[in-house]
Amino acid sequence: MTNSALPRVVVLTGAGISAESGLKTFRDNNGLWENHRVEDVATPEAFARNPALVYRFYNERRAQLQQAEVKPNAAHKALADLEQQLGDQFLLVTQNVDNLHERAGSERVLHMHGELLSARCCASGQSHVWHDAFDHTTGCRCCIPAETLRPDIVWFGEMPLYMDDIVQALAQADVFIAVGTSGQVYPAANFVAIAAESGARTIEINLEPGQQNHLFDERITGLAGETLPAFVSDFIQQYS
Ligand code: APR
Repeated sequence: MTNSALPRVVVLTGAGISAESGLKTFRDNNGLWENHRVEDVATPEAFARNPALVYRFYNERRAQLQQAEVKPNAAHKALADLEQQLGDQFLLVTQNVDNLHERAGSERVLHMHGELLSARCCASGQSHVWHDAFDHTTGCRCCIPAETLRPDIVWFGEMPLYMDDIVQALAQADVFIAVGTSGQVYPAANFVAIAAESGARTIEINLEPGQQNHLFDERITGLAGETLPAFVSDFIQQYS
């Protein structure tokens, strides 16, 4: 533990935390993602080959997010409560591109795999708030002449975002919690090892044991919407 009264906590979330909100996870569907092969819709090569298809795919993902029944669940809310308690001792790193953490009230969130609700300039890398009129022919506002705007998503073969900040936070963490992630995609799959190396207490909360399960000090198996609120409530009591 640090000298501070409150522990430094880093939480990593994956698709499993949004499953009870009605969004599908990635690896529960025969390797297909909403009936597409990932290499057709989620790679830089796919965007170069067929940008209209890639836009259509992410437009469908955005439309799903806007369905009335898709809303933050008890697990998202529990993490927002934990942030309330811990303030700047808390960091939420998510692999998810949905906005359910923010809608639950989380503010200290890093979207390491990008966000559905923004677009990115292919030339400058600058993010632009998503507008429904955007398509693969829309030009950016940050370059002259305007350059192509792409979905602000980290595709397969690309480097995740905020890695320096994340690795620094992991190196200083007292507690690392992974929620709803299969532990199959790097570099996120390696975060538990970095945190453990720095002496953090490590906890996995998942429906089933993930691929890095053996590296965690504690494992809680079950629906995140049930197990995470209970865990957070105990955790907050422990430190109050
Ligand atoms: N509660 C807790 N865990 C759950 C729940 C639930 N209700 N439902 C599913 N899970 C678990 C599954 O058992 C699985 O281990 O969530 C995990 C989801 O794993 P993946 O589908 O592999 O998702 P994720 O780990 O987020 O994938 C990482 O891969 O395709 C890329 O960029 C994409 O960010 C994604 C990355």
